[in-house]
Amino acid sequence: MGAVVPTLGLAEDDVSGVLEAASLAPSLHNSQPWRFALHPDRVELHFDPGEQLLATDPESRELRLSCGAALLNTRLALQGLGIRPLVTLLPGQGAGGALAVVRRGGRFTATEESCSLLRAVAHRRTNRHPFFDDPVPARHRQLLVRAAEQERSWLHAVTTREEKVRLRDLVQLAHRDQLADPGVQAELREWTGDRADRGHGVPSTSAGPTPAPQDEWALRDFAPGASAARSSGKDYEPDPLVVVLCSFYDGPLAELQAGQALQRVLLVATTLGLSASFLSQVVEVRRARDSLRRVLGGSLFPQTVLRIGFGSPVPPTPRLPVRELVLSSCGVDTGP
Ligand SMILES: Cc1cc2nc3c(=O)[nH]c(=O)nc-3n(C[C@H](O)[C@H](O)[C@H](O)COP(=O)(O)O)c2cc1C
Repeated sequence: MGAVVPTLGLAEDDVSGVLEAASLAPSLHNSQPWRFALHPDRVELHFDPGEQLLATDPESRELRLSCGAALLNTRLALQGLGIRPLVTLLPGQGAGGALAVVRRGGRFTATEESCSLLRAVAHRRTNRHPFFDDPVPARHRQLLVRAAEQERSWLHAVTTREEKVRLRDLVQLAHRDQLADPGVQAELREWTGDRADRGHGVPSTSAGPTPAPQDEWALRDFAPGASAARSSGKDYEPDPLVVVLCSFYDGPLAELQAGQALQRVLLVATTLGLSASFLSQVVEVRRARDSLRRVLGGSLFPQTVLRIGFGSPVPPTPRLPVRELVLSSCGVDTGP
């Protein structure tokens, strides 16, 4: 753990604000794997190997998606302070394994879009509850697709009945595989329910109602065993908007781009009054992800799957204090 120190010409309070915005990004099981090395001329984004979920995410792909999401928040927060962020993804050995480096690229003049996305950072939440039956308007869908494009990724909306059935079957197959995987189940227990503490993990208050067998889309249960108290009296909507966020190629660089795209999509959704939750099982189980890739035509790489609709407000999840996100020994700049 290090101290928040001035960087990029910003005073400590502003640096804290930027890191706080970064930390509000979504992450697998709220693991918050991002860490920041603060140098006078740059901010390095690293990850904490201690926050990896080795059974659920053995290739750290979702860890990089999460860090990409935090990176988008960092960019927006810097823009809010009038700084044009200059980002290098995977800067190489000189940066000590950093996933990204952010430098000052001159002045940024706020736009309506950058301001509204920055405002949405604190309001975006994963909503695991049933949504209302109202369909997502086509115009909203187009704006979500555009958000992914802006971050060099692709958002595929699953619209035909045939594709929906195939995706749903894959989600359920992957869900069953994970229920039978002791390592994945142990990580779920470790990171959720009453064991989620010290600013980490998914508290039971953030779990939705227990998914029933008739629920078409298998949702991960974040409060197993607490079902009696969790009946919402409302079934899951039968026909949500389901989208697959894809990259155009495979590997860490594409995953960091997809993470930024994920967050831009979620923030645009928030500004439109939409809620979203994840159906990650299908991209976590290798054979299901490979099948999904084929369903999508074979040229895109599925990174995450989202269920989107109009929902009711849900409480926030905890976050680590900002000082715990700062890597120590970065006050003196030795240069890359
Ligand atoms: C890559 C990734 C995968 C996720 N997968 C799931 C999932 O399968 N099911 C789920 O309910 N939430 C999933 N989440 C959401 C996280 O649990 C959530 O972001 C975290 O608990 C923080 O809560 P918040 O999004 O409300 O801030 C995922 C998030 C990320 C970034």
